[in-house]
Amino acid sequence: MELLKSLGIKEITAKNVSDSTYWLDRANKFQAIATQNREVYNVIDHTKGEGVLCYDIDGNEYLDLASGVAVRALGMRYKPYLDFEASVLDTVHEIMSNNWDSIPQIGLAERLVEITPGKFDKQTSLTTSGARAVENCMKSAMDKTGRRRFIGFRPSFHGRTGYALALTASNAKHKAGFPQGVDVTRVFYPYCYRCPYGQTVEDCNVECAEALRQAISLEGDDIAATVMESICAEGGFYVPPAKAVKAIYEITKEFGGYFIADEVQSGMGRTGKWWAIENFDVTPDYIAIGKAVGAGYPMGAVVGPHPLFSGTSRHSETFGAEPKMALTSLWLLKHLEDEGFLKKNAEDGAYMIKRLEELKDKHEVIGDVRGIGMMAGVEFVKNKEMKERNQYLRNAVVEKTVRKYKLWTLAAGHNVIRWLPSYVITREQIDDAIDRFDKAIADCTK
Ligand SMILES: Cc1ncc(COP(=O)(O)O)c(C=O)c1O
Repeated sequence: MELLKSLGIKEITAKNVSDSTYWLDRANKFQAIATQNREVYNVIDHTKGEGVLCYDIDGNEYLDLASGVAVRALGMRYKPYLDFEASVLDTVHEIMSNNWDSIPQIGLAERLVEITPGKFDKQTSLTTSGARAVENCMKSAMDKTGRRRFIGFRPSFHGRTGYALALTASNAKHKAGFPQGVDVTRVFYPYCYRCPYGQTVEDCNVECAEALRQAISLEGDDIAATVMESICAEGGFYVPPAKAVKAIYEITKEFGGYFIADEVQSGMGRTGKWWAIENFDVTPDYIAIGKAVGAGYPMGAVVGPHPLFSGTSRHSETFGAEPKMALTSLWLLKHLEDEGFLKKNAEDGAYMIKRLEELKDKHEVIGDVRGIGMMAGVEFVKNKEMKERNQYLRNAVVEKTVRKYKLWTLAAGHNVIRWLPSYVITREQIDDAIDRFDKAIADCTK
């Protein structure tokens, strides 16, 4: 508290410092709302947190299933990471990254090339966010092809700025009133639980991919790239079938476009492989990386065909993995590998999904459970037979889990709750979370 006071935060008292209602009121006045729901989530305590346990300033402890939307690969205040970070604290970090090269950045660029699929000649560009990683891929694809048309999906989320926002289509709130920055031909994301083409898994002839061929033929075959989330995250946690991803990749190639995999949320080992796209046996031309790669710092990266750009100054960011961030990111990549976190994610993720499927069998209102590794979605319906989307219940379950059962959950799409925990979660904690989730659903469906 003394520190906050000394930094000029006014009217902070021993009483209000642990009162979320008070600070949410101040937030409403002074801090523009982003995606937080101030009706549901209290003010988080920035001084505390351990693994998947986080706290609000009122003193409640939560089991965190959101991991800061896939930012916290190793949870909160992970001791080996804190030790490493402390050891590099006096790195000169006021070095902006775009005028000079530094060895940590070069090393990180090289490492990312190594761990992304494909044996072709690749190059990395370091950015400051996921949206900028996506935009960087798009600019590179335009630069290399001389084309400006992109294939995007409905739903999809690629960020909230410029070209990335032009691709995004997961909620009208994100887009309404903002101009479309680039041409996008949009088709439905492969979504087997509610196939937009009325097919069943058994009868599927990859109609979604054929729809893409038709869209390209009708709307313009001058495509620079197809941009696809390897798992559709924000839009509702759809896991596409491998045959659809392969067909979409092939059609893209047929028309001379690049294939960009957006792995901002699904990458960094979360699904048990470095990149979710590897689960579908497709080698993308570009991978857009973000969130966890920064080990808690704002960072993103692109790996794509060498050279990414036709010359200098085609893309540049003042802070793109400045040296300290590049070092912590390198440490994270090494630690995930050395400590077997990818294997753990595959195994514990399968366990988490099995436990969620048990809940699906138990509750009439869970229509679908889908996911890979530490990335799963639970879709709420009015009943299993009619599959009518149940947004009202989903919202109620989020509120109940957070406020009553102290389980930090996050919505996705219209009627889905995401399970996106940090990789350090234990099986006991998964069981505990399942138990709380089960109770919250039971409370809301009484
Ligand atoms: C798949 C995907 N792409 C891009 C982004 C944008 O990342 P950022 O918020 O770091 O710009 C996100 C963020 O949630 C995302 O989930």
